[in-house]
Amino acid sequence: MLYALCSMRLLQMERFFCSTCKRFYPLSPTRWRCDCGSFLDLEFEPKFPIKQILKRGPTLWRYREAIPIVKNQSILSMGEGFTPLEEVELDGHRFLLKIDYLFPTGSYKDRGATVLISKVKELGVPKVVEDSSGNAGSAIAAYCAKAGIECEIYVPQATSPEKLVQIGAYGATLKRVEGSRERTAEAAMGSASRFYYASHCWNPFFLHGTKTFAFEIWEQMDGKVPDVLILPVGHGTLFLGAYIGFKELREAGRIRRIPRLVGIQSAACPPLYQAFKEGWSETRPIEKKETLAEGIAIANPVRGRQILEAIRETEGEVLAITENEIGLALKEMGRKGYFIEPTSAATIAGLKRYLKKRNKRETVVSTLTGTGLKATEKISHL
Ligand SMILES: Cc1ncc(COP(=O)(O)O)c(C=O)c1O
Ligand SMILES: [Zn+2]
Repeated sequence: MLYALCSMRLLQMERFFCSTCKRFYPLSPTRWRCDCGSFLDLEFEPKFPIKQILKRGPTLWRYREAIPIVKNQSILSMGEGFTPLEEVELDGHRFLLKIDYLFPTGSYKDRGATVLISKVKELGVPKVVEDSSGNAGSAIAAYCAKAGIECEIYVPQATSPEKLVQIGAYGATLKRVEGSRERTAEAAMGSASRFYYASHCWNPFFLHGTKTFAFEIWEQMDGKVPDVLILPVGHGTLFLGAYIGFKELREAGRIRRIPRLVGIQSAACPPLYQAFKEGWSETRPIEKKETLAEGIAIANPVRGRQILEAIRETEGEVLAITENEIGLALKEMGRKGYFIEPTSAATIAGLKRYLKKRNKRETVVSTLTGTGLKATEKISHL
């Protein structure tokens, strides 16, 4: 009953808005970008009823009133979220690590997929299309399978074979596209004119799932906020999710400040690193080279401007990591009991760099976003 009342309010309040040209749009299954070409955000007012939250089970749906799904029957959950936040030591430095490969599909992308596909179910959409470097595709395919929604996933030809097998196992139609990640996105957009575009980079409902990363850290740190968050950044879905989550907590009066956001990119594909260093407000085209960190090999991030704004607002920075550092970090984490994807190893390599120059009193939180089981072939070559 409580949910029903709060749902009615959500229904009236949610709408899309464009931060580029300041236009608003009602929610609609066919709208995935603004008429000006820009990405859209979601206008939504979350609530944090602490007593109720504390009584609920350890999944990200414990923040029910902060997630923009209207009806409880729309929720598609596989018990995801509330991942461990562990204290770890590297190079003599202690920090906290959020183990976000502990999700049903083996990566943090389930945070976004559980919310986005619940919304898709709520809208009564029969078929979706998505493009991905593999992990978002796996997550979208899994939740669509659970809902009985048809799903078409576009991936670059060179995607790790483990991720292709996983997407296929969920019964999704796999479309392998010759060439770059950018060509894959173009191919999916062609299909998006006919089917719902469940894009993790364009669709703001995905970010309203990944934002639960921030809520969990806040709760696991007893209502405190870390000084610094060190996160991988390609299209920035975890990065922006964390930013939105902490911002919502601040606006609700639960915390006073947002952590400094430090983004980790591969030096082989560093558009945000370059734009931040040069003081640009948008990313510019770069020449991308081969990298082990396929999850962050994004030459042209859809929300580049928004990511750069979040970094500057929080006095954060971007670090670009070499292939050698990625390989070393992957091996070092394995010896500590963490079998992770190269993309997650890039984050750890960035964390190691950051820790060298850090102020010892700072609370630093980072994350492991994908399991090594997703990239055994690549890892075996290391
Ligand atoms: C394991 C892993 N970590 C991090 C990322 C980066 O996510 P985003 O591109 O949204 O920044 C990805 C993206 O595919 C990923 O697969
Ligand atoms: Zn616009």
